[in-house]
Amino acid sequence: MQSDHRRRWLRWPQGTNQTRIGYGADYNPEQWSPEVWRQDVRLMREAGVNIVSLAIFSWARLQPTAQTWDFDWLDEVMDLLGDNGIAVDLATATASPPPWLTTAHPEILPVDRNGHTIWPGARQHWRPTSAVFRQHALALVTEMAKRYGRHPALAAWHVSNELGCHNAWDYSDDAAAAFRIWLADRYGDVETLNAAWGTSFWSQRYGDWPEILVPRLAASHPNPTQQLDFRRFSSDALRDHLRAERHVLGQLTPDIPVTTNFMVMGQTQAMDYASWAGDVDFVANDHYVVPGPQALDELSFSANLTRNLGGGRPWFLMEHSPSAVNWQSVNVAKAPGAMLRDSLTHVAHGADAVCFFQWRQSASGAEKYHSAMVPHAGPDSDVFRSVVELGAVLGDLHEVAGSQVVPPHVAILFDWASWWASELDSHPSSRVRYRQEALDWYSAALATGTRADIVPLSADLSRYDVVVAPILHVVDAELAGRLVDFVEGGGHLVTTYFSGIVDRSDHVHLGGYPGLLRELLGIRIQEFAPLLEHESVALDNGTSGTLWTDQIEITDRETHCVVTYLDGPQSGRPAVTRRVLPLRGSATYVSTRLGAGGIVPVLASVLRIADIIPELPQALRDKVEVSVRAGDDSVFTFLINRTNEQLDLGALASQGTQLARTGDISDPATLGPRGVMVLSSARGSAPAGNRAARRRHHPHQLAEVEP
Ligand code: GLA
Repeated sequence: MQSDHRRRWLRWPQGTNQTRIGYGADYNPEQWSPEVWRQDVRLMREAGVNIVSLAIFSWARLQPTAQTWDFDWLDEVMDLLGDNGIAVDLATATASPPPWLTTAHPEILPVDRNGHTIWPGARQHWRPTSAVFRQHALALVTEMAKRYGRHPALAAWHVSNELGCHNAWDYSDDAAAAFRIWLADRYGDVETLNAAWGTSFWSQRYGDWPEILVPRLAASHPNPTQQLDFRRFSSDALRDHLRAERHVLGQLTPDIPVTTNFMVMGQTQAMDYASWAGDVDFVANDHYVVPGPQALDELSFSANLTRNLGGGRPWFLMEHSPSAVNWQSVNVAKAPGAMLRDSLTHVAHGADAVCFFQWRQSASGAEKYHSAMVPHAGPDSDVFRSVVELGAVLGDLHEVAGSQVVPPHVAILFDWASWWASELDSHPSSRVRYRQEALDWYSAALATGTRADIVPLSADLSRYDVVVAPILHVVDAELAGRLVDFVEGGGHLVTTYFSGIVDRSDHVHLGGYPGLLRELLGIRIQEFAPLLEHESVALDNGTSGTLWTDQIEITDRETHCVVTYLDGPQSGRPAVTRRVLPLRGSATYVSTRLGAGGIVPVLASVLRIADIIPELPQALRDKVEVSVRAGDDSVFTFLINRTNEQLDLGALASQGTQLARTGDISDPATLGPRGVMVLSSARGSAPAGNRAARRRHHPHQLAEVEP
């Protein structure tokens, strides 16, 4: 093994002296021979790879039996990588237990809500609450930390892998026992739990803790608060596993940063990452594009939320795909330039590392048709050529490393409790989709050429001029108070249908909807009026609504109707209302699902009263995404072509020196299909980066644009 002289250089993140963007992949050398490893390292150097995640699924190889260990192969790979200047984000290797362990201890296998065992044969077949699994996993973590804690290539620890990807919901007896302990901690005594769970309903009153179960298959709708608490508990149980591994690593290798890869993407809902972010030294995320009309918006949304989970600090894109995945019903290859654009969109949102699943495409196993940096076709392939190109572009962007995204004026709140609670069963509509509504508002912001942050509930709202809180279903007095303070302080709040309805125990706030937000919005609703799947209602601003309507009564002099229903059950009544507090802010309520297109005019009206000017000229809105990162001395403007057309950037292209470009680069003022341009300017000289200048003197305004 090498001396320690390269150690600091290889560490990630590299602190304020960060000098490069991480680039690499999951590397699974156990699937290949040592000759291939040497070829791998040569190709990694050619591509500019400087960090790989190693040993993620290596448990069976590292510990072939309960009593034996085999680290020789991993020693060799670690040395080979280190000798070639490639850092290692080393997995604790606990993601998938080996067959000998599940054979000896079948009691570690998870159980589904129907009581069926989840058998081995795939991966991640372990109960988060199993003491037996925990003991074996921590023994492995201990061995890994002792063996590699001082290895010069070690840059960071990668706890397990995508915790909760397949084992988030476990209904086993271990889970039930741990759930009772969790509940006792939350409620103290059974009477308090009875009150919180509303067990007077359907004769559910509990007399003692052993009577309480996880919400297994039941005759009808399980108790909703039990379901909500089970979600909270399940997220916490996985986080406890992270903490347990982290604790061992902290004892043995206190100087090595620890992370785990989140799955902020699509409908992955089980882990409340807002409550996990404090347990990692840097946030890492995996993201896979699901094709569809909002695919790019969703990528941007997820990257944006990932950054804000980590308080805005640079984060690590641990996985995305070089081209097709293998787990969708049809797995579409990425168009030329799309992989670079997707990668750079993550960087635009603050990622300081861009990694893929995986380095070399497997020849066997369940993921053999998942793309990789080195595909089945080998290095003589378009995929590998684009991988080499991305490596060079990330090299050109080395100055960007360590800089942070300049916060915009608009925030969209994202809250796991509201996500979980609003989509529970036995509701007015089973068609409510929390994340989709939030995404629609984000799409609308992009369509208006306005940057928006996706932020967890803990965010400091006073940093923003406009806060959108889509389907903010769970609101307690403290949160309601924060929203009132925000509006009274001059902020502009927008919220939607099914907001303000319940407290943290899922009990309805009585007196009319939207519960604790009634006064702030100056409205009252007596009864929900959701729409059937095929129904839509016309609105007087030319758009239409689906999913939901409300019969709104305006109760405050300061509240007026902004948009009216033209037909349907609420014909002639308000669809969108706004309370405008003189000399202060405003509170807008949207009672129907407008969809991204229908949101645009409503959002634009809020931006107008908040005096926020779009950052892009009309012709480029929706076509180009803009993001701004600022370092100590420089401002970096990312212009991302979201279309398959050549776009004329006009004055935007000359707002700084070009640091990097992808796609067709024949004309300096245009952006080729799916192309990206990164401009650099000195901090202070550019229009971006100065948050002190507000409102009409918009800090991030990039060009003369029409309001
Ligand atoms: C996840 C896992 C990887 C791999 C990819 C495939 O992100 O962490 O091991 O299965 O999905 O897309």
